[in-house]
Parts: sequence; structure tokens; C-alpha cells
Amino acid sequence: MSAIESVLQERRVFAPSEQTVAGATVSGMDAYKALCAEAERDYEGFWARLARETLTWQKPFTKVLDESKAPFYTWFEDGELNASYNSLDRHVEAGNGERVAIVFEADDGTVTNVTYKDLLARVSRFANALKKRGVKKGDRVVIYMPMSVEGVVAMQACARIGATHSVVFGGFSSKSLNERMVDVGAVALITADEQMRGGKALPLKNIADEALAMGGCEAVHSVIVYKRTGGKVAWHEGRDHWMHEISAAESDTCAPVPVGAEHPLFILYTSGSTGKPKGVQHSTGGYLLWAAQTMKWTFDHKPNDVFWCTADIGWITGHSYIAYGPLTIGATQVVFEGVPTYPNAGRFWDMIAKHKVTVFYTAPTAIRSLIKMAEADAKVHPKSYDLSSLRILGTVGEPINPEAWVWYYENVGGKRCPIVDTWWQTETGGHMITPLPGATPLVPGSCTLPLPGIMAAIVDETGQDVPNGQGGILVVKRPWPSMIRNVWGQPERYKSGYFPEELGGTLYLAGDGSVRDKDTGYFTIMGRIDDVLNVSGHRLGTMEIESALVANPLVAEAAVVGRPDDTTGEAVVAFVVLKATRPQGDEAVKLANDLRAWVGKEIGPIAKPKDIRFGENLPKTRSGKIMRRLLRSLAKGEAITQDVSTLENPAILDQLGESL
Ligand code: PRX
Repeated sequence: MSAIESVLQERRVFAPSEQTVAGATVSGMDAYKALCAEAERDYEGFWARLARETLTWQKPFTKVLDESKAPFYTWFEDGELNASYNSLDRHVEAGNGERVAIVFEADDGTVTNVTYKDLLARVSRFANALKKRGVKKGDRVVIYMPMSVEGVVAMQACARIGATHSVVFGGFSSKSLNERMVDVGAVALITADEQMRGGKALPLKNIADEALAMGGCEAVHSVIVYKRTGGKVAWHEGRDHWMHEISAAESDTCAPVPVGAEHPLFILYTSGSTGKPKGVQHSTGGYLLWAAQTMKWTFDHKPNDVFWCTADIGWITGHSYIAYGPLTIGATQVVFEGVPTYPNAGRFWDMIAKHKVTVFYTAPTAIRSLIKMAEADAKVHPKSYDLSSLRILGTVGEPINPEAWVWYYENVGGKRCPIVDTWWQTETGGHMITPLPGATPLVPGSCTLPLPGIMAAIVDETGQDVPNGQGGILVVKRPWPSMIRNVWGQPERYKSGYFPEELGGTLYLAGDGSVRDKDTGYFTIMGRIDDVLNVSGHRLGTMEIESALVANPLVAEAAVVGRPDDTTGEAVVAFVVLKATRPQGDEAVKLANDLRAWVGKEIGPIAKPKDIRFGENLPKTRSGKIMRRLLRSLAKGEAITQDVSTLENPAILDQLGESL
């Protein structure tokens, strides 16, 4: 709670400069309020207007929102469009084919510019190649690729032919990849030989081969490989194809397939409060509308902007603010292959200066780690770089602490760039609560106010509104176009997880706790209220890590909790009971390292516990429920003040309190 308390005490207000307000798309608070009022007055009319202005429809919609099958809402249902046409063709048709779509900077610093015309040709060729391999509308294609132009081409090519893509982050293990391919029913997999990160080549194709060999995904008839490094890979004749070879054989025109607005553009897996990740299903029309609209509003996009979102295409941020949002509005964006610390911790600042980036969007965790390195070494301090091109900064993925906010504002933004602290989720498709750079006075640590049309509120456990100043559960009261449509193959999980009966069955439950400021009504996010951790802006289910640990033959029982961490926001702490006796000393250290590696193999390196504690047992209630609150206190190293009289063996608290 300490971060929240400091935000609540935060009284500094940073109003946008007159110049920023004057040139902005949403110029001043009155303009913001007018848009909110328009949505209040005529909700469907408001969204219909935006959908007509922002997207090009092959067949115009006549229906806007259909609530008859709530909570399975539909938007613009009888309209037809194609996401790739909206991202590429229409800009070329408008005479902007020579505009740079992507400035790609490789790990080693090599820069490649790709124009809208080039990108359209590459996407078309690859879409034709997919079609030739039998991929058709409605098929699911899994993408397991590095940050690359080819990754964007793969996503756009699927969209072009109406195939639904499911991108799996390149840091996930073969087991995670296998589970996702099986669950989504993939017919094809697009991957790369290797990925380059921080000067090191890391395998992808070999991991993909392992995932395919695990079984359950026999429907995958084609594996298409982008040659990134030329490293050695195994090859399955007939099944495997090089992306460049099959693309070169094709024509550079491919008619975009119009799909219904509700057609699933993609499925993206995210962690929830059970052991298995859920496939968040997004639509085409509503999703694309919001990805594009928020580019215009939140990032105040202007024709001369150079936009840079540092997220990976494996996460929702990379979908909405790399693969779709910027392209749909015809922006020029930087796409970066590497890591912020290679060749040194000045890499982001160097790239901003080099590419004259105007709008920069990154995660608090990256900022926090770069602060440490910049303060230790002037050479990699943002002040050593010319960052005068910047005009707007953004953050996403986790709460930003006021200290990091102010550092970012002063040292990166030179006290002139508004920071948009954007609260949203995989499920929301795009920004939900965020400042508008030319309107909203900023308070460090607060994501401020909902975007026009987004009916966010805070309620208690029964779904009743709570007054400002009182913490509660963050909900959205009305459906919005880019919202999750379903949990792939699990409609019941969608219904009960996001529209729980306890809250009345109609409120969208975000899973976050929040509080609104008494005076301004500004929202501050207090973190997850379910068993989901946020490590470096990545969502991890505690149950998922527990399942991975107990899958190890040595482990009898495991419980995982989060602990606040200065850099990563939260850190994973695992309490483990082994089948054999409790290890001590060097043996315990070795076993902890083995278990860490095991979790890395089972899920991916991001899920590795930072801290592992061994006990003879876990603290449980009489009914056998693990006392997680107690474990959270132990993880933080706090003194136990709770009543522990019901514990069978209070001595285990001493064991579990011991760090290795
Ligand atoms: O807890 C909130 C946190 O990240 C969660 C969503 O995670 P994910 O679906 O992986 O999407 C991350 C990128 C959109 C939320 O439930 N979160 C996201 N943005 C913020 C945030 N917490 C505080 N402030 C934010 N700006």
C-alpha cells in the first residue's frame, strides 16, 4: 500500500502548456468533457460516428451495439471490413505509399526503413503464401517470432486473409507454446530460426520443434520460418518452409478478405487466477476502432510524429500500439529488436535522438531500471542525449511510482512533455483510463480519468458505487467496442470471470483495486485483487507457477505470492514443500536454482521465482486452505501479527521466513 499512500499524498499537479493544449486533437478539458457528454447523451451514436470516421468499411454497418445476448455483446455486427486493408492499402490509395511505416532498428543497430507501399507488398506476398499452404478464413495461426518487420508482416498477412492469429511471446517455453497451440487449434506456426537479444542469439525454431513434438497439435500442417540469423536448425521436409522463399514465389497483390466486424482478429493468451492461461478473443471492427482512436486521442497523433512503443508484439501493447493502431492511422513508427541495456543503458535515449522520436511509450519497470543505471553513469543518462524531438511520453502495464514519474518527466521529457499513464488490459483491447496530453492536468502516479465513452467506476463487493476517496473494485459499467468477446472455447469462464453474478452480472470486472481522488475524481490503481502478479508489467498467475512447481517430481506442495520489488514492481516468491526432507544450506541453494530453471522450462524465464523458501509444511487453516496473507507477510520479511493459533505447526513460520 505504500505506493498508493504516496500517490494519495501527491499534491503536485502538472498542467499541459498552452502550446500543447493549442495544437492538440482533444484541446483542453472542455473538449474532453464535450466528448464525454456526447457519449452520455447518445452512446451508440457516439461510437458509430467514431467507427465511420476512423475506419474504412467494405460494407457499412447498420447496427451498432447489440446487448440481447449479454454479456456476449456485439458491435457493428452487420458491417464488414478488413484490418490489413485499413492498415495498409488505404494509405497507399490515398497517395501515401512512400511514407515510412516502420523504422526498424536491429539489435546490432542496423536500421531499415519500410514504406507503406513496401509493407503492403510484403504482407500481400506472404498472405498469398499462407493461402497456398491451405490457410483460410477462420483458421488459427500461431506466431512465435522475435521483434521484427516479419513479425508485423505475419500478423497483418493473417488479418488480410481472415485467419485469426495468436501470438506467443518469444520468451515462453516449449511447453507454454505447445499448450497455446493445442488450445487454439492451430493449423500453422510462424517462427524464426533464432532471435537476437543483447548480442546473443537465442533459439526459437528448436523450441518450436520441441513444442510440436509434445503432441496435441497434429493439425499444424505448416511451419514457416523467418531466417533471422542463419543459425543451424532441424528441418522437417514438407512441413517446414522458409518465409523468404515461399514469399518470393508469390505475387505482391492479394485481395483483402472482408470479414464481419465480430470476426476474431486474434486470440491472445493471458494469465488468470487458475492454472491455465486463457485465450482472450478480440473482434476485428471494435478492436481496430479503439486501437486507432486511442492513437489519435491518447498519443495526439500528428502526421509528422515518429511514434515508438517499446513493447513486444507478444503482448497486447505490441498488438494495439505496434501491429494495428499506428498502421491503421498511417503513422511512422520505430520497431526495435533488442533490449534497453545493450550495448549500454543509453540505448533508448540514443534511439530517440537518432530517429527523432516524438512520442515514446514504455513500461515503468524499464524506466526504474534505467534510472538506476543513469544515476550511476553519466554517459547513459538521458541528459547526455538530445531528446528535444520528444513531445509526449507514455507508460503502461503497472503503476508508476511518483519518484519514477518525476524522473521520467524531468530527465527524459525535459519538463515539457506530458506523461500519459495509460491503464488498460489484454481484455480491454486499448487504453481505458488515461490522461489526454493536451487536456488533463497530470498527477504523478494517477492514470487520471476514463477516455470518452468508457464508463469506468469503483464499486464494493455487491456492485454498489463507493464514494470518491474510498477504495474498491474497478469495473466498467457499459460494454465498449474493443472489449474481450470471449475466452476462447470457454464461454462460461468469460461470463463468470468478467461479469460475476455477485456484482449483478452486468459490470465488467477488471480484477484491479482502485480509488478515486476526493476532489478531482482521478483514478489510482492499487493493483490486482485476484491471484495475478504483475512482474515487470507482465501478468503471471500464481496458480500457474504453483502448477509448474508441483509438476516437478521432487515437489510435494507449493504456494506462490508476490512481494513488492523496486525494479520489477512485484517479484515472485515461492514456498515449497519437498517430498523428501527439508533441504538446508548448500543443498537448499542448489535445489532452489534447479527449481528456478524448471519453472523457466515449464513457463518461461519471466516466471522464475526470485526467492524460494523451503518448509516442512505450508501454513493452512483448519479447512486446509493455504493462508496466503501470512505467506505474503513472510515474503516481505514482515513480523507476523495475525492470529496463528489455528496453525498445526507454528514452527514452520520460522522455516518459511528464512531467505536462502
Ligand atoms: O493491474 C493492471 C496493470 O496491468 C494489468 C493488465 O495486464 P495485461 O493484461 O498484461 O496488460 C498490460 C498492458 C495493457 C491491469 O489489470 N496495469 C496496466 N496498466 C496500468 C496498470 N496498473 C497501473 N497503472 C497502469 N497504467
